[in-house]
Amino acid sequence: SLPRKVKIVEVGPRDGLQNEKENVPADVKVELVDRLSRAGFVNVEAAAFVSPKWVPQMATGAEVMTRIARRPGTIYSVLTPNMQGFEAALAAKADEVVIFGAASEAFSQKNINCSIAESIARFEPVAKAAKASGVRLRGSISTAFGCPYQGEVPLDAVADVVARMRDLGCDEIDIADTIGVSTPRKTQAVMLRAAQEFPLERLSGHFHDTYGQALANIYASMEVGIAIFHSSVSGLGGCPYAKGATGNVATEDVLYLMNGLGIETGVDLDQVVDAGLFISQHLGRKSVSRAGNAIAAK
Ligand code: HMG
Ligand code: MG
Repeated sequence: SLPRKVKIVEVGPRDGLQNEKENVPADVKVELVDRLSRAGFVNVEAAAFVSPKWVPQMATGAEVMTRIARRPGTIYSVLTPNMQGFEAALAAKADEVVIFGAASEAFSQKNINCSIAESIARFEPVAKAAKASGVRLRGSISTAFGCPYQGEVPLDAVADVVARMRDLGCDEIDIADTIGVSTPRKTQAVMLRAAQEFPLERLSGHFHDTYGQALANIYASMEVGIAIFHSSVSGLGGCPYAKGATGNVATEDVLYLMNGLGIETGVDLDQVVDAGLFISQHLGRKSVSRAGNAIAAK
């Protein structure tokens, strides 16, 4: 049976915008986050405190975090690859920090410039500091369903990183399809293997929609009990270190699916459509959300 309620983590301001070539002004990012907050998300991934040499678009993170209007009850998350990122996150009063690793060695090297083992060693002080400061800790595992550099990723490789992130004390762990290659049965196999290492109810699905499979993968994940999903308003995004990968599944499409299934999200679809129009207009291109465009055309 499907869950009665799901948590949608809106990642558009981070995953959605990080790959944009043109600099998006902090004003626009703040407005986007504020619109998303008003739409009712309980978790918004608002920024990344990463090296500005690696991802210039995220350099405005501190400014964005100080200027947003925080909705009581909403968790504002930021990516923190190391202690330098964590210190910045703490100063910016992030509610949750995200340590992000990978299930494939090749992707780990390309994305964060170190091996999986080295990444865990780097995350350790971040995890300890997060616990000591009472900041929530989330772990994200890229390439859990396939890697743009090495191809197949064994289930045990995913399980191993899940176990390491569990041991670091993660409150939640994201199983990410960085390049959108998974299909429903594969998705269920990976989720069930991950759930042998970490409570299923605290695992989340982070699906990019490169091959058009994200909604099917979300549905398949719900069939095995997953009830937390990431999505990006108007389907923005992609990872700068995964060539050709498109954005996350569009939030509007996910909400349309959940509404149709009678699954509670607490998020207002029309307000998300408006937020999607706002950011698409700024970027000067049409949203890739099918539901968003259909609703906007009515
Ligand atoms: P490095 O070059 O090995 O690090 O990069 P370093 O410690 O040698 O530092 C190099 C320079 O970066 C130094 O500056 C540091 O100060 C600076 P310099 O002395 O040369 O002037 N630096 C920082 N600046 C600001 N904030 C920081 C920070 N750390 C170092 N936190 C590093 C290693 C991890 C820093 C780098 O590789 C990096 O920033 N990578 C981030 C890549 C990234 O953001 N990728 C996209 C997000 S992950 C993603 O999209 C996947 C996800 O969506 C799930 C999925 O779909 O798969 C989550
Ligand atoms: Mg992603």
